[in-house]
Amino acid sequence: MNTQWLTTHRFEPRQGEPSPAKLARAVAQRGVARLSGFPSDATTLIRFLAQIGQPIEYYGGSVGSHPEQAALWRVRYEVEAAERQETHALDGPLSVHSSQSLLDPRPRYFGMLMVDPGWQGDPVGFNGESLLVPWSAAFRHLEAQSPADFAWVLDALEGPVSFPDGISRPVVYSLQDQRGPHDFGVRLKSDLLTHLTRESPTSQQTQAVERLSRAGDSAALRTQLSAHDLVLVDNDRWGHGRESVTGARRDQRGNLRVNPRELWSLTLR
Ligand SMILES: [Fe+2]
Repeated sequence: MNTQWLTTHRFEPRQGEPSPAKLARAVAQRGVARLSGFPSDATTLIRFLAQIGQPIEYYGGSVGSHPEQAALWRVRYEVEAAERQETHALDGPLSVHSSQSLLDPRPRYFGMLMVDPGWQGDPVGFNGESLLVPWSAAFRHLEAQSPADFAWVLDALEGPVSFPDGISRPVVYSLQDQRGPHDFGVRLKSDLLTHLTRESPTSQQTQAVERLSRAGDSAALRTQLSAHDLVLVDNDRWGHGRESVTGARRDQRGNLRVNPRELWSLTLR
């Protein structure tokens, strides 16, 4: 796997320049950066990232949030869910998307810490590999496929699109420091396409979001994060997603084993 696009720094809290500044600078330049060797400790993570931006808390004690830090979303395969499933339960791929937060102005960063990458060794695309995409690459892909379609897709996405909260807003917005003809900000919640398909399956907006989502998946870069890898992305310019995961399988004795994969994610404004 070529991962040269993913800069790697080491977490070295006592050495010279503070790592948060280094990480933030790498993200400002390249849109994405990785810090390896980060401890799987919720308080350390929040304290570290709070030097870059303000962590956004999830409200209402949602089931997925971390018991120690309300700003952390704990992504793992749930035992109860696994018990209701067949063996070899497969959790399909997650299309690339941006932070679930719809705050305006847009939250600046999305971060994730791989606590445990879980089972490895299945064919490529079935080990929960992370997908990361610069949206500019998705737009370039769209245009290369069909310049005529690119025009109406971009037009539809820059106009009002109905979101699950009942408010219409653009999915694509211009950036103050635009860096090229394909450099736009994107707000693509992971449930937006499902919502649109249910509400207005044939509308131009639904088709445009589907095109963007597919182009994002096609242009996505794939990497398997290791335990203690912290990745921070520019939430305007980059989307994130995941390949398939085997959630649970039976061992040789027939006992149900649950994949220990665990990742913490958060959004900073
Ligand atoms: Fe996400």
